Amino acid sequence: MGFKKDFLWGGATAANQYEGGYLSGGKGLSTLDAIAGGSHEKPRMITYKTKEGKLETGWSRGSLPEGATGYIDPELFYPSHEATDFYHHYKEDIALFAKMGFKCFRLSISWARICPKGTDELNEEGLQFYDNVFDELLKYGIEPVVTMNHFDTPMYLADNYDGWSDRKLIDYFLFFAETIFTRYKDKVKYWMTFNEINFLRNWTTIGVHTADDQHKYQAAHHLFVASAKTVQLGHKINPDFQIGMMVAYIPSYPMSCRPEDVMESVSFNREQEFYMDVQVKGYYPAQKLKAFERTGVVIKKEEGDDEIIAAGTVDYIGFSYYMSTVSSANPENVKLIGGNQQPAVKNPYLEESAWGWAVDPLGLRISLCKLYDRYNVPLFVVENGFGAEDKIEADGSIIDDYRIDYFKKHVAAMKDAVDLDGVDLMGYTPWGCIDLVSAGTGEMKKRYGFIYVERYDDGTGDFSRREKKSFNWYKQVIESNGENL
Ligand code: BG6
Repeated sequence: MGFKKDFLWGGATAANQYEGGYLSGGKGLSTLDAIAGGSHEKPRMITYKTKEGKLETGWSRGSLPEGATGYIDPELFYPSHEATDFYHHYKEDIALFAKMGFKCFRLSISWARICPKGTDELNEEGLQFYDNVFDELLKYGIEPVVTMNHFDTPMYLADNYDGWSDRKLIDYFLFFAETIFTRYKDKVKYWMTFNEINFLRNWTTIGVHTADDQHKYQAAHHLFVASAKTVQLGHKINPDFQIGMMVAYIPSYPMSCRPEDVMESVSFNREQEFYMDVQVKGYYPAQKLKAFERTGVVIKKEEGDDEIIAAGTVDYIGFSYYMSTVSSANPENVKLIGGNQQPAVKNPYLEESAWGWAVDPLGLRISLCKLYDRYNVPLFVVENGFGAEDKIEADGSIIDDYRIDYFKKHVAAMKDAVDLDGVDLMGYTPWGCIDLVSAGTGEMKKRYGFIYVERYDDGTGDFSRREKKSFNWYKQVIESNGENL
């Protein structure tokens, strides 16, 4: 009973939110480097140059004019540029992860650090940086879990190819994939292709200028083909590789047992299942093909794409789980609250974080049951956590009992899914195990970590690290393999 012996306890991060060093060691610019900070109330903005050379700003989840190119305004503060400076602190941070007893550590590789333009030019210094990181992890017996691409597209590809709308990106990504697979084949076993593939839809994340359904799904098709080819390539380079997909999973409950509400919730959930159906089952589901017909979305495929997708299915599903949402057929019942990348609907039975994210531990068990019943492949909870403002007490301590409470209930829910439902669960990597920049708001104030980093939204702070109360709590959870919560 309980979690497996080799359960992968750890923590998760992403290059654009944690690494910093945005121009150090030969790195090229990424789209995320041109996204300014925001807050719960103030949306993050892209700074760009129009075709005519005018400097403008635009909503980071919207569209950009044709021919616009990313631009960095020297007067503005961009949180990703230094983030929480893993680039210069990796030894210290990994020692802290080892002290917590991490069995694994999830990080993403910055594509533009390896291929500064995203094309076939390589940056040896970037490759060496990740060699150093992996060696440091392996020194402590910590297994690296690598997201190959977490929201940051090399800016050159956004500026010159309209990002993932362009099929050419499949080849460039494959070159990047082959480079890192070959280089790190004896150091990294666990991989994931694209972070939260169901949220990739605009310039910020995939370099696409037009954020409409046609572009989003055409880009998704290219991402599917790239991912499937990557899976096949990876297995050829090292048959022991475990290569997963990654989806943001936000289960929706019907607002009532009224069949119309239930149907709404079916439709909401199907949008997320679509990405898993393609990457796990290996084909486009009928419901989506019908939806494309109705909405006029036309996917341009090349001959052989369907076969590639069928042959390149993933080994496991990695997913983020933070919250659930609710669906109703009656707009009057819908009260929007905060949500991950998109607003969610208020559930009267649940409380929310200060950023309006519903807290629903049982929803995690429900998700694990649904995904395992539907796909029957190993699952990996690669993100989960509670974004909150932490306070340093007069004696220097940080008493984050609210975070401990959140994790306690979520780990208990995972345990039920394993013990009572028979779910094959590989591991658990809470998000932002060390404080990092929020993807949604660009804030430092919204913290997730077991480790506090002295970095603030006005760009001050010396990046020093300190353990929060949750640090020791998580340490004993790992020590007891999830028995002592
Ligand atoms: C997920 C992303 O959507 O949620 C992370 O994969 C992100 O990059 C995390 O940071 C939490 O969201 P936020 O907006 O609180 O940072």
